[in-house]
Amino acid sequence: MNIIIVGTQFGDEGKGKFIDLLAKKADYIARYQGGANAGHTVVIGKNEFIFHLIPSGILHKRKKCVIGNGLVVDPETLLEEIKNLRKRGIDVKGRLFISENAHVVMPYHKLLDRVKELRRKGKKIGTTGRGIGPCYTDKVARTGIRVADLIDERAFKEKLRKNLDEKNRLLKKIYHQKGFSYKRVLAEYSSYGRKIKKYVTNTSLLINQAIDKGKSILFEGAQGTFLDIDWGTYPYVTSSHPVVGGALTGLGVGPTKIDRVIGVAKAYTTRVGGGPLPTELPKRLGERVREKGREYGATTGRPRRCGWIDLVLLRSAIQINGLDSLILTKLDVLDELKEIKICTHYKYRGKRMDYFPNSLKVLSQCKPQYEVLKGWRESISEIKTYKKLPVNAKKYVERIKKVLGIKIALISVGPQRDQTIILDKSLYGPLAHQVEHRPFKAGVTGSSPVRPTINAAIV
Ligand code: GDP
Ligand code: IMO
Ligand code: MG
Repeated sequence: MNIIIVGTQFGDEGKGKFIDLLAKKADYIARYQGGANAGHTVVIGKNEFIFHLIPSGILHKRKKCVIGNGLVVDPETLLEEIKNLRKRGIDVKGRLFISENAHVVMPYHKLLDRVKELRRKGKKIGTTGRGIGPCYTDKVARTGIRVADLIDERAFKEKLRKNLDEKNRLLKKIYHQKGFSYKRVLAEYSSYGRKIKKYVTNTSLLINQAIDKGKSILFEGAQGTFLDIDWGTYPYVTSSHPVVGGALTGLGVGPTKIDRVIGVAKAYTTRVGGGPLPTELPKRLGERVREKGREYGATTGRPRRCGWIDLVLLRSAIQINGLDSLILTKLDVLDELKEIKICTHYKYRGKRMDYFPNSLKVLSQCKPQYEVLKGWRESISEIKTYKKLPVNAKKYVERIKKVLGIKIALISVGPQRDQTIILDKSLYGPLAHQVEHRPFKAGVTGSSPVRPTINAAIV
């Protein structure tokens, strides 16, 4: 079964946990867009892993992981991630594949990301500083450096020279930065190229041939539908396509090969960075939910803003992505609340609005309309079956299902694999959390936080 997993809100819905779980039944786990802006968390016992570029299925010993052409790859971060995984007993050798068509995040992309943000003053997007926007800008402008160029010494020299000439002028004249030394960047990035070469291949061919042999592919989306460059709250978005279409272009697979498209939705809403959050909670309640849900960015550590569940957002996400079911996460975070609100629609100039507006101006005049439900006020984090959930928790889930008219496949009541209520058994069986792998070593995964200084440019 080939399944696409899409974020339905503003990212951080809990995709990582479910990619790891569903990976048990897959042969390949393939990321299709974004870059190291993503932070996907997998928790296994006392071990926590945060994946930025490497697909969240890598903990399964025998599974193959693919970084698709739709990504922008920061080789420095990637190599650090590989190294940290190795330290914890996870070897990616022979099972990590990187598309030759993916674009390379260069140091000037990261610097530009940060200096552009500073210029935005009161209108900051609140990017992750990982160079995502500037790298995708070069891709679309047809000046970018692809992974295939990085590993080809001659091509890289030529492309780097052209890019650096232009970027240094931009950095010096417009942003008053020092710029980068060609020699130093060439040496550093050529060395990265040599190190990643063994993973680089035609990943579209790889996946399509695997599909032809009956293998199962799990497509891993990053970010979420409302951070999509087209469908998100532009300009407060990322620069790629987290929506379902991104999975096809980002891996070079046709729609006829896809069996299921599943959306991951948090039982409430969060957003990190700038941009509207229509159902945002009042300060104190927001802080309570943030603390209980540990809502701090997995990539940047920034606090996430919290809001009630917004069914207008989810209705649009279901439509845009053609979702056939939802995974509802972090239901346990609402355990202590006396009342829980569900935003069923918006009111705009006295009229009912069921779908998310494209215009931020219209959105700013929309008033979320709520139904108020009673909370369950007991811990649900040890509950394993739907039947055993408190009545009010079931009422909450049923109401969401009914208003949206969609199936809920799985419910998550905690970060661990076994803190999952399985409603759709076709996705995996009751013992799915019992996955075979060696004991992990303690340590950190992922990469270090983005270097904060903007004058880190080297001459
Ligand atoms: P992703 O980017 O969509 O993979 O999500 P993140 O990893 O950025 O954020 C989700 C956070 O919630 C992580 O810290 C997870 O360990 C945690 N998490 C996932 N599911 C649950 C759940 O059902 N309950 C609780 N309390 N935490 C969860
Ligand atoms: P995962 O995959 C939540 C947000 C940033 C910022 C905007 C643009 O973990 O769900 P960018 O660095 O992409 O140019 O930033 O998008 N953002 C995310 N928010 N989860 C993510 O990824 C995000 N990736 C980017 O906070 O508002
Ligand atoms: Mg995340």
